[in-house]
Amino acid sequence: MCHTHDRTWNSEEDSQANKMTDQITGTLVFTVFTAVLGSFQFGYDIGVINAPQQIIITHYRHVLDVPLADRKALSSDAIASTEEMPRTPNLMNSTPTPPPDEELVEEDSGLITMLWSLSVSSFAIGGMIASFFGGWLGDQLGRIKAMLIANILSLAGALLMGFSKMGPSHILIISGRAVSGLYCGLISGLVPMYIGEIAPTTLRGAIGALHQLAIVTGILISQIVGLDFILGNRELWHILLGLSAVPAVLQSLLLFFCPESPRYLYIKLDEENKAKKSLKRLRGGVDVTKDIAEMRKERSEASSEQKVSIIQLFTNSSYRQPILVSLMLHMAQQFSGINGIFYYSTSIFQTAGLSQPVYATIGVGAINTVFTALSVFLVEKAGRRSLFLIGMSGMFVCAVFMSVGLVLLNKFAWMSYVSMVAIFLFVSFFEIGPGPIPWFMVAEFFSQGPRPAALAIAAFSNWTCNFIVALCFPYIAEFCGPYVFFLFAGVVLAFTLFTYFKVPETKGKSFEEIAAEFRKRGGSARPRKAATEMKFLGAAETA
Ligand code: GLC
Repeated sequence: MCHTHDRTWNSEEDSQANKMTDQITGTLVFTVFTAVLGSFQFGYDIGVINAPQQIIITHYRHVLDVPLADRKALSSDAIASTEEMPRTPNLMNSTPTPPPDEELVEEDSGLITMLWSLSVSSFAIGGMIASFFGGWLGDQLGRIKAMLIANILSLAGALLMGFSKMGPSHILIISGRAVSGLYCGLISGLVPMYIGEIAPTTLRGAIGALHQLAIVTGILISQIVGLDFILGNRELWHILLGLSAVPAVLQSLLLFFCPESPRYLYIKLDEENKAKKSLKRLRGGVDVTKDIAEMRKERSEASSEQKVSIIQLFTNSSYRQPILVSLMLHMAQQFSGINGIFYYSTSIFQTAGLSQPVYATIGVGAINTVFTALSVFLVEKAGRRSLFLIGMSGMFVCAVFMSVGLVLLNKFAWMSYVSMVAIFLFVSFFEIGPGPIPWFMVAEFFSQGPRPAALAIAAFSNWTCNFIVALCFPYIAEFCGPYVFFLFAGVVLAFTLFTYFKVPETKGKSFEEIAAEFRKRGGSARPRKAATEMKFLGAAETA
């Protein structure tokens, strides 16, 4: 049993704080910075497609010779905005009236909508496929080499997009985004794994959340460089897309100076001396016997537990409940509609009547970054379950206001501000809990044996849902019009209730206690083998 988790944080706060500053060495900072350059690029790829949407669509129309059809179909007022604003997503008309006698227009617009949806969502297809292999590649090659190899994909994707203006741009962009997605799928497994392994125990939660912080910084930077007077214009949009490889190139250079994960060296390769050397670099030469002792324990856990396959996760009753909750957490994160905002916010703001939608999008990116930074501190203090619940409940209320704002926009112009503020708050609540927490909470549910399979399936479900939202959002938005966020509100509410009833708190708990919580909440989980004294993340933090 865990005897330590009931000690209060406060009573140890001062000595914890001292320990933490002791453990933050230059090498650790440099190494974490280098690793999360991958997460930064992940964020860049998510956000980069948002601001230049209209320009790239205009280019597609040009390449595919579509513009004339739309011109014929629309009133002269609308012509200018068609160049700038495609029909995706059309939040104002729930049933858009097709212009008479212009079936061709429908076909053309349908084609463009489809190509654009694919340009956005092919990224998530790549992510979906590769998310299965991140952990595996890291085990085969080591964390550092795996990240280096992944960077080749990043470069290939960026080249396809960077040169897309010179060829069939829609094909090059869709395939370039898919290849970048492959890269992001790999690093969404590799980066959290590597930084989790090099972090001192007391800082694992905070360092884990830096992955998300780097993602949102990447989103913000892509929104800023996507401004029309920087790169988001007719001349330079392809450079904007191609720039996504810059962090990967920088990371490739810096990785040569980073120590390999001591946990990988010791637990996987049985190289105790190398692991010690690496630890000494990371901890600044201090005595590392405690870390080694902890890893020895982890290794004996690993050898006493059998590896668990993905199928077994679902068939073995002790894992069924935790894996179901893991999948639900990732589904909740994605089906909250968050990426509908990150992929399409410029269009949404335009629909909400803002004259400078791109700046509102940057506002979203900025507020997103601020709240993620806040969550880096919060996850070490508050429970994961509480933060997740607070975040989801807040998102529910905001989603309702977003839709109310859009529905009443025709009656009251000031409703555009209601929608805008609601979007800002929606994103803030997301980053308080539902954004960062699923990425590291799943690891806390499982011990060594089932953990790799659980992480792979969780990442896969995250990317699959990301893909579904990316692909379907324009269609759903067009179908539901201003009511679209009511739909997301309903989904968020359902997931909030699920979390309330089924998700246990993990902070400060041993695996045995977590398993007991799962049993209490309706699962059939049996006590897990080797769970007794093993603690992970939060448990060790308070120990
Ligand atoms: C999380 C999600 C990702 C989303 C991001 C936004 O990392 O997994 O899909 O775009 O948060 O901050």
